[in-house]
Amino acid sequence: MKILLFGRDGQVGWELQRTLAPLGMVEALDLPDLDLANAQALEKKILVSRPNVIVNAAAYTAVDRAEEDRALAFAVNAKAPGVMAEAARRVGAGLIHFSTDFVFDGSADRPYTEADPPRPLNQYGLSKLAGEEEVLRAWEACLVLRTSWVYSLRGDSFVCKVLAWSRKNLTLRIVADQTGSPSWARMLAEVVTILLGRCGSDPAGYLREVGGLYHLAGAGKVSRFAWAQAILDLDPHPERRVARMLEPASSDEFPTPAVRPVFSALDCARFTTTFGLQLPAWEQSLALAMQERQE
Ligand SMILES: NC(=O)c1ccc[n+]([C@@H]2O[C@H](COP(=O)([O-])OP(=O)(O)OC[C@H]3O[C@@H](n4cnc5c(N)ncnc54)[C@H](OP(=O)(O)O)[C@@H]3O)[C@@H](O)[C@H]2O)c1
Repeated sequence: MKILLFGRDGQVGWELQRTLAPLGMVEALDLPDLDLANAQALEKKILVSRPNVIVNAAAYTAVDRAEEDRALAFAVNAKAPGVMAEAARRVGAGLIHFSTDFVFDGSADRPYTEADPPRPLNQYGLSKLAGEEEVLRAWEACLVLRTSWVYSLRGDSFVCKVLAWSRKNLTLRIVADQTGSPSWARMLAEVVTILLGRCGSDPAGYLREVGGLYHLAGAGKVSRFAWAQAILDLDPHPERRVARMLEPASSDEFPTPAVRPVFSALDCARFTTTFGLQLPAWEQSLALAMQERQE
C-alpha cells in the first residue's frame, strides 16, 4: 500500500508516520516540502504520486490567529482537503481526514453526535467545517474523523503546558467551565492504522463502504480543570514542581481572540459500532502517555 501522509511533524502526523510504517510505503510531508495553501502544487503531488490512501493530519490549528488570518485558515483547512478529496477520486485513492469538536457551539448538555447540527463559534471552526463539507461532497471513499482536545507528550499541548506551568508557578489557575474529551495523538494514529490494516489491496473500496463522518476521541469527558489535576497526579517528577495550588477559573478571566465552545465532548458510538473498536477512556490513555514523559 502506498500512503501519502500530510502533517508529518504535527502531534497526530508524527505518530502516524510511525504507526503506518508496517502497512507499506509512507511518503510523509509537511511544511516546507509542500504548502497546502498552494492548491496547484497539492493537486500535482497527488496526481504524480498516485497513492492508494491519503491521510491528512495537517491543518491550520492556531485557533486564535485564525481570527485575523482567515484566508490562510480557509486555504489550508477548507480548500486543501477539498483538493485532496477530488485528486483522490481521480487516482482512485481513499482519504482519511481529521476535523474538530470546534464545529459545535457548546450549547449541548450531552456529548455531541454526528447528527447534531454544527455551529462554529470561531474562524478555525468555520474553516474546518467547510473542509468537512468539501471532502464529503467530492468523493465517497473518505472518512472524516472529528476529534477533540488532542495532546501528545511532544511539543506544546495542554499536557506539556500544565507540566511546564507547574515548574514555574506557585498557583495554577485553570478554567473549569470548558468540558471536552481529551484524545491522545498516539491513540488516534493507532486507530487509523487499524482501519487501514483492514483495507487489503483496495483501500478506496473499503473506505467507500464505510465512508462518511465519525466522531473519534478519548472515551469520557472532563473539564480542563479536572484534566489538569489528573495530569499533575501523574507527573513523573513531582519533586520538580513548585506549584502548590490548582485553582478553578472561569473562561472570562482569560479572554482570547477566538471564542471556544464551553462543552465539546464527542459521542463516538457511531465509530465504535461501525468498526467494532473500543476507544480507551481518556484517563487510561493519559496514564500511558505520561509514562514516557522524560523531563
Ligand atoms: N490540537 C487539537 O486540540 C485538535 C482538536 C480537534 C481536532 N484537531 C484536528 O486534528 C488534526 C491534527 O491536529 P494536530 O493537533 O496534530 O495538529 P498540529 O500538531 O498543529 O499539526 C498540524 C501540522 O500541519 C502543518 N501545517 C500547517 N499549515 C500547513 C500548510 N500550509 N501546509 C502544510 N502543512 C501545514 C503544521 O505545520 P506547522 O507546525 O509548521 O504550522 C503541523 O505540522 C487537525 O486536523 C486538527 O484540526 C486538533
